[in-house]
Amino acid sequence: MKTLTDLLEWLWNDYAAMNSQAGAIHRALEARGEKVINDHVAFRTFDLPEVRIEALAAPFLRCGYELRGGPYLFKEKKLFARHYAHPDTNKPKIFISALKVGEFSNELQRIVRDLVTQLPAGFSDGDDFLIAGAPWQPVSWDTYSKLLAESEYAAWMAAFGFRVNHFTVFFNALTTFKTLPELNTFIKGLGYALNASGGEIKGSPEVFLEQSSTLAHSVVTEFSDRTETIPGCYYEFAKRYVLSDGKLFQGFVAESADKIFESTDSLGSKDKDQK
Ligand code: NI
Repeated sequence: MKTLTDLLEWLWNDYAAMNSQAGAIHRALEARGEKVINDHVAFRTFDLPEVRIEALAAPFLRCGYELRGGPYLFKEKKLFARHYAHPDTNKPKIFISALKVGEFSNELQRIVRDLVTQLPAGFSDGDDFLIAGAPWQPVSWDTYSKLLAESEYAAWMAAFGFRVNHFTVFFNALTTFKTLPELNTFIKGLGYALNASGGEIKGSPEVFLEQSSTLAHSVVTEFSDRTETIPGCYYEFAKRYVLSDGKLFQGFVAESADKIFESTDSLGSKDKDQK
């Protein structure tokens, strides 16, 4: 079993290896003199018993995390999420969402269940589940496209599987930016496009959380019948506001995250890495 520090570093290394924009932005922030603290780390899964949210959360619970929020419902995207937090508030929250497979077409359900059926018994036990990737036979481009037409999330899962979807920089801990738009301008100045769906900033001070994110980094991906470049992971920035009791809001807001999920829609930035 890994210590929490080792676990988070291992996850960051796996994520940064596939998503060079995250490493580059992280380094650019440090070069400005910032010490980057993560607000949360996000994972995706399906709401099927073999790969349920609780199995992804288990390594964190062993490191002292507790369930703190959810289920957050994302009606339009047909998914729900929970978040877990550590007593040490400098540790990132863990945000895990799951696609409600049963609410989709019979064809999508069949494709997704075929993927999960390929997983060996005990697959989701242990830390390795968190970076297992897509441990099934690659789907065809046609199958990926069918999934994409119904659910970008299902298509992303089929291609990338179980791994960090995004890390999120905690804006409040940055010292050289006065506002989130100022940080956004800095990111764009580095050459990375932001997800502008619903505006660059999702949320508002009224819901105590504002977030922006890059457009997902494009990744060259092997399908069963061809190689294609598709959106992979993105990097996110969160600014939290103080509640009336004087404490910083620590939850998540489903309405604004609905748009954040579109950061992996097929509009990705130009830079490419091998998967
Ligand atoms: Ni997030």
